[in-house]
Amino acid sequence: MIVTGERGRNMAFGSKLVAGNWKMHGLRADGVALARGLAERAAGAGRACELLVCPPASLLTTVAGVLDGCGIALGGQDCHAAAKGPYTGDISAEMLADLGCRYVILGHSERRHGHGESDQVVRDKVAGAWRAGLVAIVCVGETRQQREAGEAAGVVSVQLTASIPDGATSDTLVVAYEPVWAIGTGLTATTHDIAVMHAEIHARVPAGTRVLYGGSVNPKNAAEILGLAEVDGALVGGASLSADDFWSIAGAAG
Ligand code: 13P
Repeated sequence: MIVTGERGRNMAFGSKLVAGNWKMHGLRADGVALARGLAERAAGAGRACELLVCPPASLLTTVAGVLDGCGIALGGQDCHAAAKGPYTGDISAEMLADLGCRYVILGHSERRHGHGESDQVVRDKVAGAWRAGLVAIVCVGETRQQREAGEAAGVVSVQLTASIPDGATSDTLVVAYEPVWAIGTGLTATTHDIAVMHAEIHARVPAGTRVLYGGSVNPKNAAEILGLAEVDGALVGGASLSADDFWSIAGAAG
C-alpha cells in the first residue's frame, strides 16, 4: 500500500507514542513488579505522550489488571491472521482484543528473521488485527549488509508496500522503523539517517500515521531521537524492562 502525498499529522495523535516491547521476558512476579512501577509513575505525574506496553502473551491478563485505569495501553507482540482455528501455539487478534489489547506489533524483525515471516504473512496478520479492531504496529528495517550496500530505503519501501494491506488509516496503522542491526546491539542509526528514513516512510503511508523509531533506544539517546520532527515515538526493547528507564524515555517524548 503506497500513499504519496504531503506529510501530515492526525491531530488526534498529536502526542508521541512510546511503546515497550517486553519480548520473551518475565514471569508473573516480574510482570507485576514492572507494571506496578509504571502504574505508580503514571499516577504521580501528567505526561504529554501516549504509553503502551506489550508484554508476552502469558502476562497480558496480569499486566492488564495492574495497569487498569492508569492510562497506559496494552498490546500484543504478534498474532495469527485467522480469528480462530487449528493453529497450535498461536493467538488471534480477537483473543488479544478480548484481553484488553488495543495494539499489536506485527512483522518485528525477530518474527521476520527468526520465524521466516514473509511480507505476505505480515500483511495477512495486519488484516487480522484490523478485523479485530486493533491498531497494527508494522515493523520495517534493513539489515547491516543492506544498509552498507545502499539498499536501506529500497528494502523498507518494499516492506511497506508488501506488508500493509489497502485501507490503512492513521487510526489503524503505526509504523516502527527498526534497523535490524540496531536491535539489542547498543548501536543506533544517526539522527540524520533516522530523519531521512522516517521522511521516506511518512511519504508512503497515510498522512498522520505515526512512525516510531526502535533499536537500542535508552534514557541517554532518547531525547535526541525523540526530538526529531520526523519521529513520532519509540519502540523500546531492553530499556522497557526497567520502569525507571522506560519512564525516563517517556519523559524525553513529552
Ligand atoms: P532494543 O531496544 O532492545 O534494541 O529492542 C528494540 C526492539 O526490537 C523493539 O521492538
